[in-house]
Amino acid sequence: MSLSIDFSKSMVLKKMEISKDKSRKALNTLLEGTGEGNDFLGWINWPKEYDKDEFDRIKKAAKEIKDHSDVLVVIGIGGSYLGAKAVQYALSPYFTTNDVEIIYAGHQMSSSYLKELMDYLEDKDFSVNIISKSGTTTEPAIAFRFLKQMLEDRYGKEESKKRIYATTDRGKGALKGLADEMNYESFVIPDNIGGRFSVLTAVGLLPLAAAGVDIDALMEGAALGVKKYKNLDFDDNIAMQYALYRNILYKEGKTIEILANYEPKLKYFSEWWKQLFGESEGKDGEGLFPVSVNFTTDLHSMGQMIQEGKRNILETVLRIKNPKHDLIIEEDPKNLDGLNYIAGKSLDYVNKMAAKGVAQAHFDGDVPVVEITMDELDERHIGELMYFFEISVGISGYILEVNPFNQPGVEKYKSNMFRLLGKPGYEQK
Ligand code: PA5
Repeated sequence: MSLSIDFSKSMVLKKMEISKDKSRKALNTLLEGTGEGNDFLGWINWPKEYDKDEFDRIKKAAKEIKDHSDVLVVIGIGGSYLGAKAVQYALSPYFTTNDVEIIYAGHQMSSSYLKELMDYLEDKDFSVNIISKSGTTTEPAIAFRFLKQMLEDRYGKEESKKRIYATTDRGKGALKGLADEMNYESFVIPDNIGGRFSVLTAVGLLPLAAAGVDIDALMEGAALGVKKYKNLDFDDNIAMQYALYRNILYKEGKTIEILANYEPKLKYFSEWWKQLFGESEGKDGEGLFPVSVNFTTDLHSMGQMIQEGKRNILETVLRIKNPKHDLIIEEDPKNLDGLNYIAGKSLDYVNKMAAKGVAQAHFDGDVPVVEITMDELDERHIGELMYFFEISVGISGYILEVNPFNQPGVEKYKSNMFRLLGKPGYEQK
């Protein structure tokens, strides 16, 4: 198994060679814990040092959920749900549900969504995993208040407690207090792991185990990442290379990074990636703006813009070498659709030729393209890929000279909203 990266269309190979020391220095700062935000570096060795007892409890809870529920409602926002959704969507079949259907809530405040979800749950057995590190975030707190009430009405106060799993801080926050008071089964988000770096903690692992994902293999993949991407040899560490490449181009005016895929199962992986890079780098007036596209679908909507719009884009493509399934295109005697020229070829071959053609066209149109290839789309590769991006963003943030581990700007909307809602302590001055 492996991840590989192709920089042949990056446009900056020579420049990377010249400034590779920058990347090495940034990785060193990260590993030595001497940079800003160094109290949030628990994720670096986590895939090797995670709490094995808690891991077993997660598996046990997942089994309980499978035994007594049709649906698990995962309540959380930002780093408290995107990782689980990314991995679950990447590894689940398109048209059948797993043993337990996973539904996400508390990641927006749509009254229609919540009402329709409650209607949907009316004739289903369900459990809730409420996830919030701070334990005070408004969106999940509101969704939890409604669903907790629904569980209590349905199963009674005592029984409903067995259907609520809380993932939160070890000691502080409203959710921690509530979980202790109500005696919910609880899991910990370590103090030194921030939300967007928490997918491999109980935050991601409990919903994923309930969804039938092999969480042992996911952790093994991430542990392989630890071995590979903490390596200070630039020529042998693609995370250092990727971090440097995007920073060189950023300084040259490429201020937007598009993450593209040719497999729609990766759609939510891109959402996770956008938060990881956007929230880590977008501060102090700096940062590449992360966006995502799903090809070939979006070639028919965004393709024009990428090919000929403002030349401030770089493109990172996620590719899968061996698809889970493939189909051979058969010869048709009449050939009315004109497709016989690809008869005998596989659909994945056609998809790959499209990718090749697109990469060349974008490169010719002054869009640097870097391709990251996974041999397979499975737990091990996804675990490694997530770790790869986590360490890359740490290195990249330090090259950019921002603190990659805080998100002060997120508070701005909250204080305005709290003032408008009349929350005590936020009165109009
Ligand atoms: O990455 C982050 O820190 C944020 O996206 C948080 O995960 C998000 O705001 C949710 O916070 P909490 O888990 O405290 O409810």
